[in-house]
Amino acid sequence: MSNPVQSDKDRVVIFDTTLRDGEQCPGATMTFEEKLNIAAMLDDMGVDIIEAGFPIASDGDFEAVNEIAKRSRNAVICGLSRAGAKDIDRCAEAIRPAKRGRIHTFLSTSPVHMKYKLQMEPQQVFELVVSSVTRARNHTDDVEWSSEDGTRTEFDFLCRCVEAAIKAGATTINIPDTVGYAVPEEYYDLFKRVRESVPNSDKAVFSVHCHNDLGMAVANSMAGIRAGARQIECTINGIGERAGNAALEEVVMAMRVRNDKLPFWNKIDTTQLTHASKVVSAATSFPVQYNKAIVGRNAFAHESGIHQDGMLKNAQTYEIMLPETVGVKQTSLVMGKHSGRHAFIHKLEEMGHKLSSNQLEDAFVRFKALADRKKHIYDEDLESLIDESMVHAFD
Ligand code: KIV
Ligand code: ZN
Repeated sequence: MSNPVQSDKDRVVIFDTTLRDGEQCPGATMTFEEKLNIAAMLDDMGVDIIEAGFPIASDGDFEAVNEIAKRSRNAVICGLSRAGAKDIDRCAEAIRPAKRGRIHTFLSTSPVHMKYKLQMEPQQVFELVVSSVTRARNHTDDVEWSSEDGTRTEFDFLCRCVEAAIKAGATTINIPDTVGYAVPEEYYDLFKRVRESVPNSDKAVFSVHCHNDLGMAVANSMAGIRAGARQIECTINGIGERAGNAALEEVVMAMRVRNDKLPFWNKIDTTQLTHASKVVSAATSFPVQYNKAIVGRNAFAHESGIHQDGMLKNAQTYEIMLPETVGVKQTSLVMGKHSGRHAFIHKLEEMGHKLSSNQLEDAFVRFKALADRKKHIYDEDLESLIDESMVHAFD
């Protein structure tokens, strides 16, 4: 892993929306206490901005955002708001106690959303962009504006809205891939072209917000950053609407491990990633898939004989990051039917057993036979194999 060169222009702000977009997905509702714990944990990890909820959605959401704002330490506390005055004022009230607070207001700009969802003409939408950002700016000088369904928005209209939002005082401009429709080249081009076309684009930080409907949320986020965006909106374990959002642990580790190709840095303490994943999984009762990148239980586990043998010779053969860097104690060589002799001997030595070569041979044959019948081989299984081999095999 190469060391990131930390210049300000390459700094990427991590905006976590686990408590807002993450909680919004079916079944992920968290209690007030769980939200406070998660917010404290995110703050400790070095998350720059915590989107703590959607204050107008319910009194419970308001209370959670408000309490998180009161307890805020380093992170900016952000609340989401639609474009109406009531929403914006409620959001402003919720974040008021924060050391630093942000209002994130959004409005759909794509033809399909304007026509069917909003039932508004583009000109009305444009005027609402200006009035909503202006209103939010009267409450705080940290205002983010999002063009919902930005990737399916007509380009010139998107540029008009972005330019107007910046003029009205937005300090961050988010162009979400709301329905996870973009592909990386396209998302890259969109950011590049918008930043080049909007005359005052250098007055705002551009942000990526990618959903994972086609499994490209992380790749799209990286594409947007390469095109000049400097904020990534993401969630722990990638939870979020439908197929989820870009996973925080993945975008962060992509920039760490492939800093040669993605020369950007962020403030996240990566050793807390695995713990954070477990906390969010427990709070939401959403299991983390075994093969989930970075935090899945198989992310640093090897069963095949060829891989185990390679790992015992040099960990770089089959791992591209050290498990400790994401808070995993060590790589695990899982004993199963694909394991080889080398790993088997290593495992027995770890367990404190030194067998003669005949005993070892006998134990290995028994192990392979057992592994064919049984999915999980526990240390106790190995102990009884060894006992049998001690009795049956010649010294
Ligand atoms: O996906 C989306 O467009 C959103 C916005 C509210 C930012 O979550
Ligand atoms: Zn979203």
